[in-house]
Amino acid sequence: MDNKPIIALDFSTKAEVEHFLTHFPKQSLNVKVGMELFYQEGIEILKQLKESGHDVFLDIKLHDIPTTVYKAMRGLAGYGVDMVNVHAAGGVEMMAAAKKGLKDGKKAGSKKPLLIAVTQLTSTTEENMQREQKVSGTLEESVLNYARLSYFAGVDGVVCSVHEAKEVEQVTAPKFLRVTPGIRLPGDLTNDQKRIATPLEAKREKATHIVVGRTITKSKDPATAYQEVLKYWNGE
Ligand code: C5P
Repeated sequence: MDNKPIIALDFSTKAEVEHFLTHFPKQSLNVKVGMELFYQEGIEILKQLKESGHDVFLDIKLHDIPTTVYKAMRGLAGYGVDMVNVHAAGGVEMMAAAKKGLKDGKKAGSKKPLLIAVTQLTSTTEENMQREQKVSGTLEESVLNYARLSYFAGVDGVVCSVHEAKEVEQVTAPKFLRVTPGIRLPGDLTNDQKRIATPLEAKREKATHIVVGRTITKSKDPATAYQEVLKYWNGE
């Protein structure tokens, strides 16, 4: 998957996805399929997106025992997903098993899917983390700890906020991917995102990939919104 913005296809049905993609005829996009779409349209939607020439980030955040995650990843790699993720909370052994599953399941001649870890969910507050997970220290320390563990496990990168990207790079390596959601164009609605950044800020803060949902999907003119995001992301 190259570093074009990743469009979050947060829709429930194949029909909605097909309608949305009519705004991008003959273009090869980076798209993200999350739980909402995947649990309703299943493997078929992955096949369809791949056949249409898109690169797919399957955002289903696996978290289970290593053997189960290994087998799930081996199967998913066979469908040609380009990026997929796990919860870093599943542990180093689980993340390494996920990586091996992707390697063992990838189609001959195709690239190994990129494996990304989720650190702390952005819906988790520091207070909840300390009280419920019994993790002491700050939320940021926990995010950076999970980033280090993921790097150690051989994962390719993490999902993080734009504001964490630089520090993640510092505790890991420049090549370790920083995939950042919470992106808005100047003047957009923030919706439920608490900490947002523009594509240009994301670039300056060392994000390697941006995930953009409603700014494009809810726009009256998705193609123009995408071009705007692309322009800022490319630093123009
Ligand atoms: O519409 P919006 O641009 O806010 O969508 C962001 C996308 O990124 C959604 O699919 C959301 O689930 C996802 N995401 C996020 N924050 C995270 C992880 C994923 O917003 N920490």
